[in-house]
Amino acid sequence: MLRTKTCGELRRAHEDETVKLCGWVNSYREQGKELVFVDLRDRYGKTQVVFRTDDSAEIDARARKLRREDVIQVEGVVRYRGDDLVNPKLETGEIEIRVSALTVFSKSKTPPFELEGGELPNEELRLKHRFFDLRRSTLQENIRLRHDLSQAVREYFNTRDFLEIETPILGRSTPEGARDYLVPSRVHHGAFYALPQSPQIYKQLLMVSGFDRYYQIARCFRDEDLRADRQPEFTQIDVEMTFVERDDVLDMIDGLVTSVIKKVKGIELEGSLPRYTYADVMERFGSDKPDMRFGMELIDIGDVGAVSDFGVFKAVVEGGGRVRGINAKGASEKYSRRLLDKDLKDFVGEYGAKGLAYMKVAGGKLESTIAKFFSEDQQAEIIKRMDGEDGDLLLFVADKPAVTSAALAALRNRLGKELELYDPETFCPLWVVDFPLLTWNEDEKRFDAEHHPFCEPNKEDVELLESDPGKVRADSYDLVINGYEAASGSVRIHDSQVQQKIFDLLNINEEEAESRFGFLLEGLRYGAPPHAGVALGLDRWVMLLAGDDNIRDVVAFPKTQRASDLLSGAPARVDDHQLKDLRIEIEGLDEDDE
Ligand code: AMO
Ligand code: AMP
Repeated sequence: MLRTKTCGELRRAHEDETVKLCGWVNSYREQGKELVFVDLRDRYGKTQVVFRTDDSAEIDARARKLRREDVIQVEGVVRYRGDDLVNPKLETGEIEIRVSALTVFSKSKTPPFELEGGELPNEELRLKHRFFDLRRSTLQENIRLRHDLSQAVREYFNTRDFLEIETPILGRSTPEGARDYLVPSRVHHGAFYALPQSPQIYKQLLMVSGFDRYYQIARCFRDEDLRADRQPEFTQIDVEMTFVERDDVLDMIDGLVTSVIKKVKGIELEGSLPRYTYADVMERFGSDKPDMRFGMELIDIGDVGAVSDFGVFKAVVEGGGRVRGINAKGASEKYSRRLLDKDLKDFVGEYGAKGLAYMKVAGGKLESTIAKFFSEDQQAEIIKRMDGEDGDLLLFVADKPAVTSAALAALRNRLGKELELYDPETFCPLWVVDFPLLTWNEDEKRFDAEHHPFCEPNKEDVELLESDPGKVRADSYDLVINGYEAASGSVRIHDSQVQQKIFDLLNINEEEAESRFGFLLEGLRYGAPPHAGVALGLDRWVMLLAGDDNIRDVVAFPKTQRASDLLSGAPARVDDHQLKDLRIEIEGLDEDDE
């Protein structure tokens, strides 16, 4: 046996036992001629081990050659450190090992950076040495949390008659709307597999096959612009159910979310997560993924602006736009004029806003360079509507409705964080339901599916499919947590005629539909049950539960914003003979092309 205990295990109760420990040299310290101290580390913790010259000169000499990150085995006796020497910061701080035998399994090159303490080196260096970076305790905890989460998910579904079924990775292009990753076929000249953007079509077909309740912890691949919460390959907790309506799915996922958060974080949430309509959250928060840890709702003062003397507001309302604002409670002294006129204005400018008007509430009146354009009554009305009190800072954007939403939603998120309006440790999940079925694509003058083309239109809106398709709501839903989209799903179309109608609206002709989704459409023609489902972004869940905002911190081997794996060097060139087998020629390759 190479080890009898782990480095996190020993306590005073083990005093005088002889043990074997294995691990990495976390730190190394010589004390005079007599003593060498090493903190030995493994996944479970750290233990102090002591080498004494008078025990064995030979061991002592070898101990003096140890360096950080060498991998060793020690055998020795557990000793109580003594009342004065207990280290309360270490779980094993009561004891140390007095070493009688040392084996060096392997020496380490000089570590590429410090594991703990001090500032983290840049992410590129860390990703390049990911095997080493993963030794950091934060990443060890994140990977552990990820494991706990997937196990809790499996347990939840396994006890509810769900079957975990794998679906192909080498498949056909699926409809999530990002670019596909393609894999050329050697056997079928000129043909390609597409890596799945999600198991969407396969899981619907599994319902047609009668599998009733399906889940899969599924890898998905999307060639899209990456951000802090997106990876080109990521993992979904993918779910589909037969003979269910929307609320059956939401109830099932409510149960999952509350039990998982309880299990892995020990936090109790209300049994049934709140449900809001898309129209409601867009009006109140300007976003379909509102952070509900704080209030600061968007308020419309367009009618007051229209009758005021402030030209900007009047003109915008006359042109069909809106004037909306938020109240940063008690913040009137927190932002200097410079910040307001420059930083915050530029910030909303990124969302298309042409300006940011602000007014402070003081002595029951408005204080601002533009206050003079508002009569006393108008000021009182604005203060009342914005729930204003002395010391509040009111901020307004006048623009096209969509710009007011986007700009104020972003500003609200920024102020919420800067003004510390919430406890970052809390979770505020909500469902947003009744998304629009279609969005108008102005460039191509046609409708796009808001989610994907298989969402069932809301029954009450079926007539609108002919008369005003842009107004049709989908029977779809997103789960939002702390401002992130954590899951997304819908009731599916199970009638091939309704499906055809939607393809018509999306301008997908019969030929294209058959060639892209023919295998699903054919399935729907052989007795398709009503079905609905959802997919949760596992990586985002772990990120949220870890209180992190970088998705790379919860993936063992993540990719950069440019979709490279710095550790392995993927993507990389391949041998000429491989290309020859595939009958692929690479055109116009520059030496600096990656
Ligand atoms: P959707 O495309 O909304 O739906 O994806 C579901 C959830 O997956 C997560 N997610 C991502 N996480 C990390 N990196 C990415 N690039 C990424 N893209 C998406 C999000 C998102 O809510 N087939 C449908 C689901 C269904 O209808 O059942 C689908 O894939 O958390
Ligand atoms: P101006 O009349 O352009 O000097 O603007 C007076 C104030 O109104 C400034 O604080 C501008 O930032 C603000 N402002 C200008 N345009 C808008 C707009 N579209 N929405 C909100 N505030 C605006």
